[in-house]
Amino acid sequence: MAATSYDAESAAAYRASRELPREGLTAWREAVAEEAGLAPGMTVVDVGAGTGAFAAAFHDWFGVRVLAVEPAPAMRALIAPVSGGVEPVDGRAEALPLPDACADAAWLGSVVHHLADLDKAARELRRVLVPGAPVLVRNTFPGRSQDDLRVRFFPETAEGVDGYPTVERVTAAFESVGFRRTALRSLPQQSASTLGVFADRLSRDADSKLRALSDEAYARGLARLRAAAAEHPAEPAVSWMDLLVLR
Ligand SMILES: C[S@@+](CC[C@H](N)C(=O)[O-])C[C@H]1O[C@@H](n2cnc3c(N)ncnc32)[C@H](O)[C@@H]1O
Repeated sequence: MAATSYDAESAAAYRASRELPREGLTAWREAVAEEAGLAPGMTVVDVGAGTGAFAAAFHDWFGVRVLAVEPAPAMRALIAPVSGGVEPVDGRAEALPLPDACADAAWLGSVVHHLADLDKAARELRRVLVPGAPVLVRNTFPGRSQDDLRVRFFPETAEGVDGYPTVERVTAAFESVGFRRTALRSLPQQSASTLGVFADRLSRDADSKLRALSDEAYARGLARLRAAAAEHPAEPAVSWMDLLVLR
């Protein structure tokens, strides 16, 4: 998939529409704690950090220092630096501007399908991580996207996901540089308190899956979502994604 470019407007739309409420991420917080064993003072490299929501969450949850690597200036400008906590870094996964063995874990949130060269990115992560450190990949993968809320209401988005790197492809890229897969877990997130709130916050501009749809497909999906929200007004907007761990 081609890299997405972000200007100030789309970066702000990303923040407003795609950043998740912290309380909706409990299962993710617990899974990362179990899989990564992060402790205060450790360093995490967040590759493709976007507006820095996960970087800030990791710092707050685990007391770690986060190097928030993000190539798009408009996204990086929204990362709030925290002294000793979150450091925005201009860079790309394929050429990380970081020293060897400087990090205790890597986080790649919704980014593997944006990378120009996954194999180069895996080599770079091997270089900047200390031996034994985990790579935590949070993504939607082909054949595993049926419980993603967008796929539920906009089923045509599954065709876009079919073009993403598969679990096997990502695993192979990392295995070729010495990592092995230690976990693959499907995890829930509460994207909004209700389907109605989720629909209100939805921004087509902020989401490459929705942007790829025709106007008609988008309108049909929105109508389905609004109808479900009207029928089940108290239903929380829960979406599932995978956590793939390699170390
Ligand atoms: C969908 S956003 C995810 C942002 C954040 N990780 C999150 O979960 O909210 C994908 C991000 O990856 C960045 N990106 C695209 N190509 C990249 C590359 N080659 N290396 C690092 N980041 C990249 C984009 O600029 C964008 O901010």
